[in-house]
Amino acid sequence: MSLGKLVVVGQGYVGLPLGMRGVEAGFDVTGVDLDESRVKRLAAGDSFIEDIPASRLGRALGSGRYHPTTDYADAAGFDVCVITVPTPLRDGAPDLSHIEQAGVALAPYVRPGCTVILESTTYPGTTEELLRRLLETGSGLHSPGDFHLGYSPERIDPGNPRWRLENTPKVVSGVDEAALRRVDEFYQRVVERTVPVDSTRVAELTKLIENTFRQVNIALINELAMLSHELDIDVWQAIEAAATKPFGFMSFRPGPGVGGHCLPIDPCYLSWQVKRTLGRQFRFVELANEINHQMPEHVVLRITAGLNRQGRPVNGSRLLLLGLAYKKNTGDMRDSPAVDITRRLQALGAEIRAVEPHAEADHVPAGVVIVGLTEHELRAADAVVVVTDHDSLDYDLVAREAGYVFDARSRCHGDNVERL
Ligand SMILES: NC(=O)c1ccc[n+]([C@@H]2O[C@H](COP(=O)([O-])OP(=O)(O)OC[C@H]3O[C@@H](n4cnc5c(N)ncnc54)[C@H](O)[C@@H]3O)[C@@H](O)[C@H]2O)c1
Repeated sequence: MSLGKLVVVGQGYVGLPLGMRGVEAGFDVTGVDLDESRVKRLAAGDSFIEDIPASRLGRALGSGRYHPTTDYADAAGFDVCVITVPTPLRDGAPDLSHIEQAGVALAPYVRPGCTVILESTTYPGTTEELLRRLLETGSGLHSPGDFHLGYSPERIDPGNPRWRLENTPKVVSGVDEAALRRVDEFYQRVVERTVPVDSTRVAELTKLIENTFRQVNIALINELAMLSHELDIDVWQAIEAAATKPFGFMSFRPGPGVGGHCLPIDPCYLSWQVKRTLGRQFRFVELANEINHQMPEHVVLRITAGLNRQGRPVNGSRLLLLGLAYKKNTGDMRDSPAVDITRRLQALGAEIRAVEPHAEADHVPAGVVIVGLTEHELRAADAVVVVTDHDSLDYDLVAREAGYVFDARSRCHGDNVERL
């Protein structure tokens, strides 16, 4: 027996896993996405999200209860609709145009008793101010009263086999008690544990705290790594030693910069809102952004110095980058620091080859040749740079065969290895 009709707007990293889980929990799922090529691929059983294998998508399609579409009219008659569209920045300010478009397009299909939930990361107030107004205007109905409206932040961690949608606690909220109950009931069917909070604003802020916390702590350890290098102290060993403290310390590791859809963007939603409503700066966020943004340039300077010690200019050198994605074990290159590093090195005249087992060909930066991790490639490179440490790569082989390794992730060991 079907649990009802679930519509998931946006079939990307967040929406597709939710759609699949919805089918498995017993809903009839309609996945609405404006990207025609994505919808065609999904309908053909071709998953573009690594955490969703084609076999899982095939089972959902085979059940007859998963229907990907570009047409909002297919949302008609829904019981629950979850919106998972992108929330990027435009000129440093939140770009809510995707939420606006989704709200306007969905509104005609909102009916009494249905539930609409926003999952996109955004600043506090978006659900109750923006989305509510759009849905009420387009439907002629009200919330609270006629339909239920809530917010539940997404915590999906692409490439993480331990913490998946279903076993990661889900924070849930509603615009009133009745909406909270409906939102909670829905998620209790798809995840193991829900965490109800008092308002949509609290739930929206929860997500921003989580990502701002990461952004700030990564920046702290990145700055420490740069300073420790100048002080000639092994920061990696110090972090490992500090991490043995069983209380009061949480380990973060340095890296070549942050990328993707969350860390470089979400804290800016918070600082933008603080500036807009309070006229103040969120100084931790500003500083963390500045430091993390500086990391690709720092990596390039360190590689330049490393080549210089061998009597080589960057110009004309052959460099092998390991990992182009912003996150290990994924192929996601959105705002990846590897892209920035590549452009800077290319501008200095380097020839860039890269090992990226997860890459989709059309996302690889221009001029980069994708190669396999072979002894020949390692030996032929003037420098091998560990940018993103995918677990599938053989780092012993890298350290053994390469002449000079610049390792931004501390995966290789040996006299020929320089760590960030
Ligand atoms: N990717 C993550 O790891 C992650 C984790 C937590 C939260 N989030 C948040 O979740 C939201 C979605 O992120 P994502 O990574 O899934 O993005 P994504 O780009 O992978 O997917 C979004 C999808 O929405 C579609 N879309 C855009 N506008 C639309 C519209 N008006 N109607 C229908 N479809 C539309 C796009 O075509 C795309 O396929 C963002 O707010 C993001 O910050 C992402």
